[in-house]
Amino acid sequence: MTIFVTGGAGYIGTHVILELLEQGYAVVAADNFVNSKPSAVARIKQHSGIDFSFYEMDIRDSGRLNEIFTAHCIDCVVHLAGLKAVGESVEQPLGYYANNLDSTISLLSAMRAHEINKIVFSSSATVYSGNNEMPLTEESRIGDCINPYGWTKFMCEQILTDCARIGDGCAVALLRYFNPIGAHESGLFGEDPRDTPNNLMPFIAQTAMGKFSHLNIYGGDYETPDGTGIRDYIHVVDLALGHVAAIHYLCKHPGVSTFNLGTGRGVSVLELVTAFEQSTGISISKKIIARRPGDLAICVADVEKAKRELSWESKKSLHDACTDTWRWQSTNPNGYDS
Ligand code: NAD
Ligand code: WQD
Repeated sequence: MTIFVTGGAGYIGTHVILELLEQGYAVVAADNFVNSKPSAVARIKQHSGIDFSFYEMDIRDSGRLNEIFTAHCIDCVVHLAGLKAVGESVEQPLGYYANNLDSTISLLSAMRAHEINKIVFSSSATVYSGNNEMPLTEESRIGDCINPYGWTKFMCEQILTDCARIGDGCAVALLRYFNPIGAHESGLFGEDPRDTPNNLMPFIAQTAMGKFSHLNIYGGDYETPDGTGIRDYIHVVDLALGHVAAIHYLCKHPGVSTFNLGTGRGVSVLELVTAFEQSTGISISKKIIARRPGDLAICVADVEKAKRELSWESKKSLHDACTDTWRWQSTNPNGYDS
């Protein structure tokens, strides 16, 4: 089977491609490097010892997509390309809507023209409304997104669902990721934020490197056992394997299927910091400051549906995620430029 991976040079894309190659899939990938680097792709080829076609392009470019779908016989698409910085999406809403929606629409149009009818889409726990009970099941309420980024995921889910209704034999997997962390155990692949990291784990890792004096903890007065926010942190390699499971599933299940990809375990900010300290032996200075606007106290997945229907579940521990993050961060202080 040949899989077309959009956003293949990004944090999750590199790990998805590595697992696909490892399992014998043929890969064709594309990325415009708006948030990634060509060296990530070179590293995948070098580490796996497998060459694959890679296209530097914007997924909104339908002409290029048509050329690629003519040149390669694609069986399934994994659509990861997208802009993902929540704060930036508030400042540049049109840029986010244009990129994330137009790329999905161009892709679906080209797929339709070339009779490619299977797609796995990177959605997010951010599509769930803020007032659901925990843990979140796939049936929990969606919408009321609090930023343009979240709405782009919500809208793409709707576009994909509408297209699946008219496409004969179309199969769509909407994967709602919770909080991906960690890195490949080789130490060669990981998250490489452009500027100051927005997310907790890369901030902890860069604080451990001495790039920041301390970690600001956003809120110590939530209704949680230690007062800090609780999330469902999933190792990026487990997440990548979830995509492989979804591709298998799509081969037998037409229509739209939605899956939470998480661990089902809630971990507080303080617990993650402690796990990182214990795994690495490095102590992290921290200050509790005001809550970050828009943050929920708790966001945890119910993962029973993915276990049951995809025969997939996360295997790696928080300790694995911390050790792997530190291996990547400490041996690649400047990310893929190291
Ligand atoms: P990332 O930024 O590392 O990867 C996304 C890749 O898409 C980047 O390499 C970027 O250059 C590329 N890209 C963006 N727009 C493009 C376009 N128009 N044409 C071609 N390439 C384009 O992010 P990631 O963490 O790997 O996330 C992958 C996907 O998963 C994104 O869609 C993101 O919204 C989604 N997601 C991520 C998280 C997370 O916390 N990392 C959580 C939920 C969902
Ligand atoms: C985790 C916890 C913070 C940084 C975001 C997006 C979501 C999804 C995943 C794409 C929270 C706390 C954080 C820091 C802190 N992305 N924190 N100090 O907000 O759960 O989800 O990434 O789809 O859409 O919103 O992840 O890593 O930013 O925060 O105390 O410097 O860590 O308050 O409790 P979040 P995060």
